[in-house]
Amino acid sequence: MLDANSILLSSLKLGNRTAQNRFVAQPMEGNDAVNGAVSERAIERYTKLAQGKWGVIVIEALAVADNALARKNQMVISRDHLPGFKALIASMKKADPNVIILFQITHSGRKSGKDFSRPTALYDPAPHEHLLTTEEIDEIQRLFIENTLLAEEAGADGVDFKMCHGYFGCELLRSGNQRSDKWGGSFENRTRFLSESVKEIKARLVNKDFVLGSRISYWEGIKGGCGTASADDAVEYLDEMDQVIKLMADLGLDYVNVSAGIPGVTSEITRPTMTSKWFYLHQFRYARRAKALVGDSMKVFGSAYSVLKEDGIALAEENLEKGYADFIGWGRQTLADPLFPIRLAQGESVDYCKLCSGCSKLMARQEQVKCIIYPGDKE
Ligand SMILES: Cc1cc2nc3c(=O)[nH]c(=O)nc-3n(C[C@H](O)[C@H](O)[C@H](O)COP(=O)(O)O)c2cc1C
Repeated sequence: MLDANSILLSSLKLGNRTAQNRFVAQPMEGNDAVNGAVSERAIERYTKLAQGKWGVIVIEALAVADNALARKNQMVISRDHLPGFKALIASMKKADPNVIILFQITHSGRKSGKDFSRPTALYDPAPHEHLLTTEEIDEIQRLFIENTLLAEEAGADGVDFKMCHGYFGCELLRSGNQRSDKWGGSFENRTRFLSESVKEIKARLVNKDFVLGSRISYWEGIKGGCGTASADDAVEYLDEMDQVIKLMADLGLDYVNVSAGIPGVTSEITRPTMTSKWFYLHQFRYARRAKALVGDSMKVFGSAYSVLKEDGIALAEENLEKGYADFIGWGRQTLADPLFPIRLAQGESVDYCKLCSGCSKLMARQEQVKCIIYPGDKE
């Protein structure tokens, strides 16, 4: 049971909002949309999560267009699907009026499925990838902006720009993005999408308390990836990603959700398993580094705690106490036990993630994602 004075249970400002505690349900794709629209299953999944009393729930990667899907049954954010998103939020807020709900929005870029979508590249396209033109990127930017405003209209409390894990947003930032147009080459060009979009969104949002943040991979572990010095280097060199984070703070983002790696490529960096457990220490280091850079100007979410099972609680508290992160995110643990925070607070037994990778395998096979050990019917 968590001590009633545990820092994990303490409230904290996120932008102009107040999160009821420091538990973040990280975005976890369910692959259960119906032609891109929110399904009953998704509403059930997220309502259950809301019953768990998480401080913040980040709704999984929502594609900005139906040709930008990494998952065959990925949700697509569009005006046509607005009623479904409104129903999702209404159901979650009924379960917990205090939860902060963020929509993660994304374009899947190179990770778009070739059998049901259109893989795109910003540079060095593989034979099956379409090299995006300047105008096509302009259009993707328009979709990010319009869909953020749609998220506001749907009643979400904020939006998370997905700039991590090898997707389009992440590819933009890479040192390897040496496009010769305004979207590549210099640091300014590689961060243009972010800075222009945030400025326009801020000017157009009606709700000035709408939370804005982004998820990054501090180091991807590939040549020319985020967290490297140049297109020819895979070695960790974080100075430029430091500048990205400072830019986010300068733009007035409310938080950065620090992650690392590319699922399916450098998967262990993103989601350590029992055989790669110690990668969690890198993720702790990255969150601490981000926090040291931004101080109080922006909140920092830490990632990759599921591998620690019950030991993660004390380490999460320690990281919060030491000021190495402001919020602690759990990914796979949300599938194993959506009621995790409330169970801990009430001293009930928790189903800890077994690190079997069953959920990841379902996702890779384009099946509906769930915990295969605890399939979610626990009351
Ligand atoms: C099945 C599955 C789906 C995921 N979906 C997303 C997603 O939509 N967006 C995202 O940023 N990360 C996604 N992730 C990564 C998780 O949010 C998280 O960063 C990762 O699992 C490591 O955290 P953990 O050790 O607590 O599980 C997913 C991971 C898994 C296993």
